[in-house]
Amino acid sequence: MDAFVIEGGQRLDGTLRVHGSKNAALPQLAAALLTDQPLTLRDVPELADIQNMTKLLADLGCSAQRDGDAIRAQTQDQSQVHARYDVVRTMRAGICVLGPILARRGRARVSMPGGCAIGDRPIDIHLRGLEALGAAITLENGDIVAEVPGGRLRGATVFLGGPFGPTVLGTANVMSAATLARGTTIIESAACEPEIADLAKLLNAMGAKISGAGTPRVTIIGVDELGAADHRVIPDRIEAGTFLCAAAITNSDLRVTNCPVDALLAAIDRLERIGVHVEVENPSDPFRATCRVYAERSLRPVEISTQPHPGFPADLQAQFMALLTLADGNSVITERIFPERFLHVPELSRMGAKLMRQGATVVVTGVRELVGAPVMASDLRASAGLVLAALAARGTTIINRVYHLDRGYERLEERLRGVGAKIERIDTSAVSESAAPMITVRPIGEPAHA
Ligand code: EPZ
Repeated sequence: MDAFVIEGGQRLDGTLRVHGSKNAALPQLAAALLTDQPLTLRDVPELADIQNMTKLLADLGCSAQRDGDAIRAQTQDQSQVHARYDVVRTMRAGICVLGPILARRGRARVSMPGGCAIGDRPIDIHLRGLEALGAAITLENGDIVAEVPGGRLRGATVFLGGPFGPTVLGTANVMSAATLARGTTIIESAACEPEIADLAKLLNAMGAKISGAGTPRVTIIGVDELGAADHRVIPDRIEAGTFLCAAAITNSDLRVTNCPVDALLAAIDRLERIGVHVEVENPSDPFRATCRVYAERSLRPVEISTQPHPGFPADLQAQFMALLTLADGNSVITERIFPERFLHVPELSRMGAKLMRQGATVVVTGVRELVGAPVMASDLRASAGLVLAALAARGTTIINRVYHLDRGYERLEERLRGVGAKIERIDTSAVSESAAPMITVRPIGEPAHA
């Protein structure tokens, strides 16, 4: 098991390039199941979740090969309809194959994704949406078993709102399925996330007829078949937001390229209020901008509530909490999408942060400094928050279980090292986690006697 060892307090200097978006690429890979023609996706990050999705596609008769930053996927065999627990449990986005298999093969069996560290994550709205398109759905031995009487879905008006707003992957599932339905589907209360608009762009390039994606009402006119496409995935807004916070928390002056500022307006609004400046140097392409980011000497406290897009993203809550631990006063952070997503709170507290949680709200009282400590990564974005805190902390922080982080950030330590951070990956498998802080730090790849 790998850990990061971070020596805090270094100023960062240079340029970080944002990679393609994991959360956009995952449902786009699943879209390869909607056709026998080849699909090429470019700027796909090399991450464990992407690998798991290609494994899942292979199980379903679709080969997906990487060539540099591109993945070429093509369905060869349509007989398999079972997405098994051992893959789906590793990655909730496995549920994205349900809509495409059902639409193309008329039946599907997909393991119910389990719970996860960020709280309860039901899929009732996905299923309601697919039922509205004519699927008959039952639950058998932990699998969702879906059949389409007559073999082809039919268009319908579907409401996808839930207690915490619209569902992102639910919208992806129903929108993808509806492309091959007979007739027109209207999704009301659709998720407006940029990943949904990018999925629609890909599906339209494959021959689908989707309008309104990126707004709460999406219209899909069903077609008989979809074909080949070559598509470049949008940059990852969450990775970009994490880099902006990295500059701010280390009081650095950084350049971030391939930065989707247009998808980050709520986060940039908060940064500006905190006293962090994000200057866009080439405003002509607000989805792939180059930004200069630097902070004022003292950071101001703010109030943040996570919301569905275009509100403040839940996936940046932990990173902003890390940043606000060093602000001058009390900030209030409320989580409105995943009310339990606070596993980073006790870990940040170990580093000297002053945090008081009550339900879905945390009051962050700014402190003068954070101090290094051994901490535990618990989920992807919580881990990113801990890395940020460690970059700013006095002394050494060891972040255990960074495999969580590897699910969403490609070679993060190398990229941060490239701009001056003191961060190493170590293998802790030989020692117990509690002992990890005591071990001699030997970067991976370096011989033991070096
Ligand atoms: C996507 O998850 C992202 N994952 C998450 O990013 C992200 O945090 C989330 O959207 C919210 O922005 C991927 O894109 C792979 P939801 P998703 O369905 O689609 C409730 C990361 O760190 N809900 O929009 O699964 C749900 O419990 C990950 O990269 C239902 O009640 O999230 C939540 O409270 C973590 N019933 C809210 O809706 C349902 O059927 C939004 O969830 C579905 C969801």
